[in-house]
Amino acid sequence: MAHIGTDISAAKAFLEAGDVVGMPTETVYGLAGNALNPDAVLRIFSVKNRPAFDPLIVHTDSLEKVFRYVTHLPEPARKLAESVWPGPLTLLLPKRDLVPDLTTSGLDTVAVRIPNHPLTLALLRSLDFPLAAPSANPFGYISPTTAQHVADQLGDQIPYVLDGGPCGIGLESTIIGFENEQPTVYRLGGMALEQLTALIGPLTVRDHSTSNPKAPGMLSSHYAPRKPVYLLDPHEQPTGMDEQTGALVFSEPFLGIPIQNQLVLSPSGNVIEAAKNLFAYLRQLDQMTLTRIYAKRLPNEGLGRAVNDRLKRASVTTP
Ligand code: TXA
Ligand code: MG
Repeated sequence: MAHIGTDISAAKAFLEAGDVVGMPTETVYGLAGNALNPDAVLRIFSVKNRPAFDPLIVHTDSLEKVFRYVTHLPEPARKLAESVWPGPLTLLLPKRDLVPDLTTSGLDTVAVRIPNHPLTLALLRSLDFPLAAPSANPFGYISPTTAQHVADQLGDQIPYVLDGGPCGIGLESTIIGFENEQPTVYRLGGMALEQLTALIGPLTVRDHSTSNPKAPGMLSSHYAPRKPVYLLDPHEQPTGMDEQTGALVFSEPFLGIPIQNQLVLSPSGNVIEAAKNLFAYLRQLDQMTLTRIYAKRLPNEGLGRAVNDRLKRASVTTP
């Protein structure tokens, strides 16, 4: 069983030996391994049960180091990197040969991010290689936002989880790629669209699922609990409720669903607080004796947009 602790040198020793460990970030917990070591990267794919066509994000701690792994930054990428990192933003950039094809699933771009968490930044500073880290959940399941979530799901396969407390943002990073220097959002996430637009102007959002998604986080079924989740618009009412019906709501519980079966993301109606609670609450509902879960869409603004995106992927289409 994984040991949970705050010992950076223990995490470092496992990583240097080619092993993988749980690691905190401000968005969600990652399953980290040496991004330049194909064996460590294979171990990540196998622990997560993740298909090899789904590339990993490479984490480092300075822009200077980023240039070891990418050939160049388009102008908008440089602007974003300088103003947002360390922060909840991943950039897709042309990779150098040093980055193994396994890490990028054969793509000629590499996803790079400088996470904003003091323990992980200290860990990254102490290493002479970057860390590949997908979210530390079994493929397709809800992302972890505490060290305990990681231990509960992957604890029998990894030696250590570095405990940095509950994640401050609670949603995965926003992913931006560049085609002809034009920025495109491939995954909505912890950095709100409005903030990005304020920095670099209008962006194309291409977060729809396709049969051949550029980012498999774009797959239509992802982040899903094991019970059916039905997503309702703000004006819609659930039907056919009983004692085993549960709900995940923004600020107001549904009438007609037992109150003890309902989790309120933000009683004050704050989308940032809602984002932070989203995955932990979905997990909690999944563990209760419920047969179905109703969820209500948030206002489509700020992080509400990314929360709605995750709810949509966690849900089935019709009740
Ligand atoms: O907040 C986050 O981004 C967290 C923390 C741990 O940093 N990580 C995370 O990783 O969410 P993961 O693997 O769960 O999601 C990364 C997404 C995947 O959907 C993957 O397909 C996409 O990034 N991705 C990675 N490299 C890519 C590339 N070169 N081109 C397109 N998509 C890429
Ligand atoms: Mg993930």
